[in-house]
Amino acid sequence: MTHDRNWQGCVFIGTSLDGYIAKPDGDLTWLTDPTPRPHTIGSAAHPALTWENFYPNVDTLVMGRTTYETVLTFHAWPFDGKRVIVLSRTSEGDERVQVVRSVVEARELLSYEGAGRVYIDGGRTIQSFLAAGLIDEITVSIAPVLLGRGSRLFGDLDRDVLLTLRGHHATQDDGLLRATYSVQSR
Ligand SMILES: NC(=O)c1ccc[n+]([C@@H]2O[C@H](COP(=O)([O-])OP(=O)(O)OC[C@H]3O[C@@H](n4cnc5c(N)ncnc54)[C@H](OP(=O)(O)O)[C@@H]3O)[C@@H](O)[C@H]2O)c1
Repeated sequence: MTHDRNWQGCVFIGTSLDGYIAKPDGDLTWLTDPTPRPHTIGSAAHPALTWENFYPNVDTLVMGRTTYETVLTFHAWPFDGKRVIVLSRTSEGDERVQVVRSVVEARELLSYEGAGRVYIDGGRTIQSFLAAGLIDEITVSIAPVLLGRGSRLFGDLDRDVLLTLRGHHATQDDGLLRATYSVQSR
């Protein structure tokens, strides 16, 4: 969090080892329903955040239009009780979300509405928020797979973004390597 805003931008996302968050056709089963295999894990003295201790502390989500459209295919809306902002130049959204057309507009809305802990989701949205210096914490869950193509988690940056490791652990069932970092403010 920086001195000129009161909310914290946080990422909690699954990625392949080679940095993809979805296959080219949007498939996510490599993450949500992986082929069982016997992963070897050790114990972690300082574990990363888990979904159970990350999500309840989030008051607002900002997601890109592609991620929003993926969520619309789910059986039920998963974000009841949370404010949801969709970043898009093309979508009108629906009654459950507020649409903003730019990161600047998102930032202003988050400040105006007194957001606290904000979950930033979607590859290009995360990249846009990172480039604007609006991400404070990143938790990645690295799945044991190489996809070779798809939607990228991270992209080009005009300078280094320094991260401080805050915790890490591996998960037994699906062999995720999870790490939580804080982002050094610029
Ligand atoms: N593995 C995971 O944990 C995980 C998590 C979330 C999502 N996903 C998957 O990842 C894929 C989506 O990734 P994605 O990279 O396409 O990202 P996205 O950020 O969800 O959506 C990209 C869209 O958001 C809008 N957008 C992004 N940055 C913007 C900016 N600076 N200004 C204005 N609009 C902006 C644009 O919408 P318009 O084109 O409408 O202008 C852009 O086309 C989906 O398949 C989703 O299911 C995976």
